Amino acid sequence: MSSRGNFSGRIGFILAAAGSAVGLGNIWRFPYLAGANGGAIFLVVYLACILLLCYPVMVGEIAIGRAANSDAFGSYSKLGTRRWGYLGLFGIMAGVFILSFYNVVAGWAFGYFLHISFGDLLNHQDFGGFFGAYVNDIIDVSSASGLANSNLIFSLIFMAVTAIIVSQGIQKGIEAANKIMMPSLYLILLGIIVYSLSLPNAMSGVRFYLVPDFSELNVGTVVNGLKQAFFSLSLGMGALITYGSYLSKKENIASSAIVISIADTSVAFFSGLMVFPLVHFLAFKLNIDPTQIGTQGPPLIFVVLPQIFSEMGAILGRVVGGAFFLLVCFAALTSTISLLEVPVAYLVDQKKMNRKVVVWGLALLIFILGLPSMMSQGMIASLNKLTFYRGQDFLTFIADMCDISLTVGGALMCIFISRQWGIDKMDAELVNGNEGYMQSRTRSYLHFTIRWVAPVLLGVLSLLIIVEKFFGVENLL
Ligand code: PFF
Repeated sequence: MSSRGNFSGRIGFILAAAGSAVGLGNIWRFPYLAGANGGAIFLVVYLACILLLCYPVMVGEIAIGRAANSDAFGSYSKLGTRRWGYLGLFGIMAGVFILSFYNVVAGWAFGYFLHISFGDLLNHQDFGGFFGAYVNDIIDVSSASGLANSNLIFSLIFMAVTAIIVSQGIQKGIEAANKIMMPSLYLILLGIIVYSLSLPNAMSGVRFYLVPDFSELNVGTVVNGLKQAFFSLSLGMGALITYGSYLSKKENIASSAIVISIADTSVAFFSGLMVFPLVHFLAFKLNIDPTQIGTQGPPLIFVVLPQIFSEMGAILGRVVGGAFFLLVCFAALTSTISLLEVPVAYLVDQKKMNRKVVVWGLALLIFILGLPSMMSQGMIASLNKLTFYRGQDFLTFIADMCDISLTVGGALMCIFISRQWGIDKMDAELVNGNEGYMQSRTRSYLHFTIRWVAPVLLGVLSLLIIVEKFFGVENLL
């Protein structure tokens, strides 16, 4: 392969791509979306989205990247026209914006890891109040919990660690980091699940999570499931084109994509299995109804869970709580490195710039781009309540715009494959490492979904997502 760098083999690629997929989206967003959308029924919708829409898009992206052996912009322009290159550029920009806000939330989690493990956060009485003050005041270096409380610094450190890893290149940086963090992440997750299932009232949480409520099945559930699946699998913005470009021709893309999807979905599923028994344990301890515990949005992991850890007693709380936030940091870090690699690959490939210079320059730029999101959590009133966006905050606005760009990007990618590059060329790429591909059912399935199902459904659902974002979910149906 060229001097661009490459993964050492199948395992390295799968771990890195699964690392990109497994992130804050799985541990933080999936459980509360599932909780709010009918539990198991959400899981069913989610799985259907993966099978019907996400898997074909994932295979397509990896094939494009490997066939072109280039970054997102380079791949679309090489296999298509320069105009199609702008679709790649659009994805690269989406990646930049995702990283800008994602790193802010990752910084919060990193701060919580430090505050819980080494500070006295768990001695607080009012966790909601603590979190509100914590995200509001971004440069408070006084010691709110025995430690400096500056999430400006926490997120700067998080970005710097991301940059250190990415600057080391594909094998020594990205692959090596994922090989350590991904197995650790699974171990911590399984450890906490075992513990949380042993707590009083755990089974009530499991039941809540797993017994389907069919009355919750509506357009909103489908739209939420699809958005979540695309974000969770890092689709639609070129991350997998970029990682695919570092994959050897010997590897089987269709089967790797199955493993990546299962790895990601299992972490999302297990996160719910970790969180809901904990929530129901808290309800039991406080002798209240579990539905009274607000599990929506950021409060789930930053307010409710710390309260639960504090109920476990001083030492156990510190250990379990610390392990939990370390898990969140690992998950976030394996995603931030893939997000940073997307624009880095673009500048290295297209502008022939030095990798280290590009990495640090972009990391700083994206950190600065994230400041409005960081300051939108109370510090600056006008960013906290955007008048043009139904009074929502700036971080939510950016996150929502990125959601839209992913499904639109996915739809356009399918159109690119069938109308520009040619689905036979995709086949030719997928045969590498998979001799039986031409006769396989996977091939017919991919043809059917990429040509017809995915572009149409993704197009329609993207429109619905736009309606939901700008006019409110109640206008959906
Ligand atoms: N998949 C990540 C998550 O679920 O948290 C988010 C993400 C990472 C999206 C990387 C896109 C991406 F390129």
